[in-house]
Amino acid sequence: MRRDAADEPRLETTPEGLSLVAGEMRLIGDFTSMLPRLKPHALGRELLVKAAKIRHVEEGQTLRAVDATAGLGEDSILLAASGFHVTMFEHDPLIAALLRDALERASHVEELGVIVSHMELVEGDSISGMASLDFAPDVVYLDPMFPAKRSASAKKKLQLFQRLESPCSDEEALLEAALALDPRKVVVKRPLKGPQLAGAKPSHAIKGKTVRYDCIVCSPR
Ligand SMILES: C[S@@+](CC[C@H](N)C(=O)[O-])C[C@H]1O[C@@H](n2cnc3c(N)ncnc32)[C@H](O)[C@@H]1O
Repeated sequence: MRRDAADEPRLETTPEGLSLVAGEMRLIGDFTSMLPRLKPHALGRELLVKAAKIRHVEEGQTLRAVDATAGLGEDSILLAASGFHVTMFEHDPLIAALLRDALERASHVEELGVIVSHMELVEGDSISGMASLDFAPDVVYLDPMFPAKRSASAKKKLQLFQRLESPCSDEEALLEAALALDPRKVVVKRPLKGPQLAGAKPSHAIKGKTVRYDCIVCSPR
């Protein structure tokens, strides 16, 4: 089927911020919409925060997380608000541009400025990028695109993500690169009934209504 030029994803500067536009679909990074979920009482109920929780933290210790599949950084900001310094990798240049713009705008918002100051974006592939990190993070978080039905009912945001990103084809390499960092644990987001990433059996899983967080506990350190 022929695709109209207007359907090709392109970046546009709008009064709200940098937007990715394709036909009727529009995607913008926006951390202010996350504010209700970042309040302390709400944050403690977030399944990702529970899954990434590190027990026995030493006084003055900086907890570090690597988000190897950052997307628009919504999961990363949950980790940052719960006390992690987060290094985010995003390899798609259009998504990375949206994320960088969202971080910049959030840095001027009173309730978000400190949180996003603990989030650092690395534009590029995390499989090679993780190998170059000079620290061992406490947590590595993986949320690669899952093969999903390209239905008209899928959320507009998801549809646009699906246009840019194919389902992860190198699950083994991604998991191997995460484990090679010697983290205390690797947390993997999966659809509730989806298969485990690279078939790796988790130590335990935290389940919600539609998603599941598989936790692979590695070294206690
Ligand atoms: C499902 S989305 C992640 C959504 C994200 N958890 C959030 O909260 O917005 C997956 C993202 O990971 C990125 N990605 C997938 N594999 C990657 C890799 N090897 N290195 C860097 N980015 C990757 C994709 O471009 C996509 O933006």
